[in-house]
Amino acid sequence: MVNHPHLQLAAVTRYCAERGIALDVREDGWLLILGDAPRRHFIFGYDFGLNSAVAHRLACDKAATASLLAASGIPAIPHAFVLAPALTGAREPDWPSILELLESHPKGLVVKPNEGTSGRAVTRATTAAELKGSLTRIFATGASAAIAPLLQIADEVRVILLDDVPLIVYRKQRPVVSGDGGHSLRELALATVPVQQHAQLLRRLAGEFDASTLDAILPRGAQRLLSWRHNLEFGAQPVLLTAGALREACTALARAAARVIGIRYTSIDVVLVDGHWQVLEINSGVKMEVLGRHAPELVETACFAALDKVFAHHPSG
Ligand SMILES: Nc1ncnc2c1ncn2[C@@H]1O[C@H](COP(=O)(O)OP(=O)(O)O)[C@@H](O)[C@H]1O
Ligand SMILES: [Mg+2]
Repeated sequence: MVNHPHLQLAAVTRYCAERGIALDVREDGWLLILGDAPRRHFIFGYDFGLNSAVAHRLACDKAATASLLAASGIPAIPHAFVLAPALTGAREPDWPSILELLESHPKGLVVKPNEGTSGRAVTRATTAAELKGSLTRIFATGASAAIAPLLQIADEVRVILLDDVPLIVYRKQRPVVSGDGGHSLRELALATVPVQQHAQLLRRLAGEFDASTLDAILPRGAQRLLSWRHNLEFGAQPVLLTAGALREACTALARAAARVIGIRYTSIDVVLVDGHWQVLEINSGVKMEVLGRHAPELVETACFAALDKVFAHHPSG
């Protein structure tokens, strides 16, 4: 399961074993208790307990983050907040004001759960019907939504920061296939992953393309992105940036963004739009399970660095 923090748990287990710190694993690995009472430290899901409660809440709120960054002069993709009707008590969302967003952005919108992650329920909407459909699906779970203008993202980079220091920086390269004039898009896509991942990939493709597009032979030389989203969970590959101007530029922007909301341990996504880097989102949890399949040692590096911050002021064992 992509969502479960297996690699993180393995790293925390090694850290504790090496330093003689007691570790109690609860809730199938979702709740970790490090050290003995009264000096216990908790890790809950992907939350290492380094961020303040309010920094965590701001990072989890895409619309609040975007508006705070903009107010602080940090380039960020705007996200309008739409409260779920279940929370306002209204029978329906305020469709007229929501549809106005589409009039202001005729190229389209991207609709997301305001507190979502991993690209789940993130959809493009270019018509009123699509916009209403996307929001209705999000509101069915009671969640609120964030709506951004649909942009041409040329590149997306993730910066994992700990107290201003970049621990890991990588580009997210979306999966792409090239036509050979003999195979369908579906066949070309399936050839990119091992057989065990075919069922999962077919489900993803069904969400991206209609059946006739998947069945059609892709002409020789034609390129198709298999996912419009940059999430590793949707097949993007991490390409590590270990040095260079791109890494520096993205890190400087991520650092400035982290300072605005006062977050210590974070993964920040920055995107290149029309030649300018902007912040797409700040994540409070640092999820590295998919990254770890490509570079397991990095998960350990980041987890150990985060735990060193905890135990430097909190000796145990
Ligand atoms: N405004 C936008 N325009 C174009 N693509 C977008 C936009 N917002 C998000 N995306 C795409 O969707 C992906 C997921 O969006 P994101 O805001 O990061 O949500 P999540 O927290 O679920 O990852 C991004 O990696 C990007 O590829
Ligand atoms: Mg994201």
